[in-house]
Amino acid sequence: MSVLAAALAELRSRCPVRPRLGLVLGSGLGAFAEEIEHPVRVPFAQLPGFPVSTVSGHAGQFVFGEMHGVPLAVAQGRVHYYEGYPMGQVVLPVRLLGRLGVETLVLTNAAGALDPELRPGDFVAISDHIAAFVPSPLRGENDESLGPRFPDMSRVYDPALVQLLLDCGRAAGARVCPGVYVQTPGPAYETPAEVRLYRMAGGDCVGMSTAVEAVAARNMGLRVAGLSCITNPAAGLGQAPLSHEEVKDATARSARQFAALLSAFIQHLGEGAGA
Ligand code: HPA
Repeated sequence: MSVLAAALAELRSRCPVRPRLGLVLGSGLGAFAEEIEHPVRVPFAQLPGFPVSTVSGHAGQFVFGEMHGVPLAVAQGRVHYYEGYPMGQVVLPVRLLGRLGVETLVLTNAAGALDPELRPGDFVAISDHIAAFVPSPLRGENDESLGPRFPDMSRVYDPALVQLLLDCGRAAGARVCPGVYVQTPGPAYETPAEVRLYRMAGGDCVGMSTAVEAVAARNMGLRVAGLSCITNPAAGLGQAPLSHEEVKDATARSARQFAALLSAFIQHLGEGAGA
């Protein structure tokens, strides 16, 4: 049995309710999972062969439950390419959420600002991405049961969900704007020259995750939304050297607004908004 099939069987046996919504919570943003009602927690490490996160700030577990009456499944933490996993494994949690039956997937992350107008504490509702600097998660033999060999990527992030994120952000008192996310391989932060390149290429924010997950999710036909929490000006745009500690501190400061925004988003989805 494949790792995906084994994990699916295990999760179905532990969580009989089919989730409608899937969420991936990025660096330092995992606290949102504490707000889930009737939580059932399954650590990635309890799923045979499943990749386990080695990064601080990433719990590495699934949490199943409900919010505003919406049954959901949350990946609290993710694994990254820079941890040494091939991209096919990096997207396994997303594949699993798709197989569990989620229709809509919300990917979240901490990101550096390429747009000089963006400040720490702002949010970006991802409207498109650049994944060209990292390997494709679809490389290798294609499993037609997951999706087509050559999937269209002309509209990865659902425009109605981008709008809903913007509306919910404003209602939550957060500064949110649409923007293009650039995924880098990491783990080193960018050089100032790379930051200039990504900005010239059309990027608004930069991070080490998310775009490949969105590709895998679209390959499976899921509706995708993406939300970046801006933690720092990208290299060369601010004064201080970048550090993971700074990123975690910044997400901790944004945690309440992030939770309010996502909670409103889920409530509206439950009421049929963005449909
Ligand atoms: N670059 C890459 N990834 C990040 C950054 C950054 O500046 N901030 C948070 N994650």
